[in-house]
Amino acid sequence: MVLEAILAHLDSLGRQHLDELLDWLRIPSISAQSARAADQLRAADWAVTYLREAGLHAELRDTAGYPVIVGGYDAGPDAPTVLLYGHYDVQPPEPLELWDSPPFIDDWGGEPPAKAADAGAADTGAADAGTAEPVRDGAVFARGASDDKGQIFCHFAALRGWLKHHGRLPVTVKLLIEGEEEIGSPSLEAFVTENAEALRADYAVVSDSSMYTPEIPALTTGLRGLAYFQLDIEGAARDLHSGSHGGGVANPANVLAAFLATLHNPDGSINLPGIYDDVVAATDDERAAFAALGFDDEIYRAEVDAPALAGEAGYTTLERRWTRPSLDINGLWGGYAGEGAKTVLPARAGAKFSLRLVPHQDPDRVAQAVRRAAEERLPSSVRWELTAHHGARPVLTPTDSPGVRAALRALAQGFDREAVFIREGGTIPVVEVMQRVLGTTPLLMGFGLPEDRAHAPNERFGLANLNGGIRASAALWAGLARA
Ligand code: BES
Ligand code: MN
Ligand code: MN
Repeated sequence: MVLEAILAHLDSLGRQHLDELLDWLRIPSISAQSARAADQLRAADWAVTYLREAGLHAELRDTAGYPVIVGGYDAGPDAPTVLLYGHYDVQPPEPLELWDSPPFIDDWGGEPPAKAADAGAADTGAADAGTAEPVRDGAVFARGASDDKGQIFCHFAALRGWLKHHGRLPVTVKLLIEGEEEIGSPSLEAFVTENAEALRADYAVVSDSSMYTPEIPALTTGLRGLAYFQLDIEGAARDLHSGSHGGGVANPANVLAAFLATLHNPDGSINLPGIYDDVVAATDDERAAFAALGFDDEIYRAEVDAPALAGEAGYTTLERRWTRPSLDINGLWGGYAGEGAKTVLPARAGAKFSLRLVPHQDPDRVAQAVRRAAEERLPSSVRWELTAHHGARPVLTPTDSPGVRAALRALAQGFDREAVFIREGGTIPVVEVMQRVLGTTPLLMGFGLPEDRAHAPNERFGLANLNGGIRASAALWAGLARA
């Protein structure tokens, strides 16, 4: 009955919640861009102010990078303890010209794109960049709307609803809100390790992933890890005429292309010795459960608008994205890419590429395999440098515990539909740290959607997701108290 009243109270605040979220989304807290350092602090302060006004304790703690928000609410020694994680940083908004409204509501977070100047453009019916409303089509459009401000805001609002309407919370909440997730959480493992006692909790609640569909909520039981590399290749000391010198010296772009082409086998599997040694196959039960989700390849193909799906032979699309490692080139450069033709033999070429990892692959072992491949496969006719960026380990969570059952029930209460188990292909570095360092059981309750365009232009968060997420969070605190 308490929960019913709180849910009714929260439902009555719909417009206020949206306005509050819009305020947070106005702040371009882009962790990757040093020019945004002040905005990062403004976004962290915004959350601290909101949480304090809600009746929680909240403060900023310094790290080697951007500050972490800690604090929470103490419900006494008998209440279960929940660590609530989220991130206040967002991805860069570029390319700006593809946004239909400004990524930071009324701020472009960069040079506003030039509007189509010719009168003919109006006839096409296409909106000029930036002319649309930030709230339209049942969603709020902004960088961070879904990843992750909108999702973590659901918890902020629900916590405030509990405290304003009921005066107390039935669970002890500890906050861990970081500002460096989108750059790989470089400071967080050290912070969690140093503050392990204070952060100890029965469960870690993380809303930074997706529902299965707009109608079907989901509890995520697996995340992939990440190993990220940059390969720089150098041939001659300067660019050369490809007529005078082609055939005379190695072309770094040719060498790069040949090397990258060795990284996959014809069947789509990854061609690095030992790369599958530590991969744990999904159980038959789990494969059957995924198959029962009724995933439709054609709908997915149409959604991403690709000519056809592709990947490792022998696995379904969901299995490939959720349970198998993958390797992708993320960026590629070298030589001339401008207008027309330039007959140049470039001095340099390079690529960024990364592997998504599944249990129990280890980013350091993967880095060794990649380095060995570079040593064995790159010719002595070039100089090269391989840089391994900070990695993240994959995650698999238990699927049965009182907390898991409470989370499933809360999702059903929030979204009026039974929740399903899914895995996700993305990475949240700290989740594995919370398991390993704190011994905490993660509850990955995503309120976003796969089609929210996270990291892309026109990122969005549905108003139904905002409302359902707030309700699910409110229900979760009641459910965990009984778990
Ligand atoms: N929220 C995402 C992670 C995510 C994406 C979970 C899709 C589930 C589905 C997170 O903000 C993110 O983008 N993570 C990065 C991690 C990287 C920077 C270490 C990622 O997955 O690329
Ligand atoms: Mn995220
Ligand atoms: Mn992200």
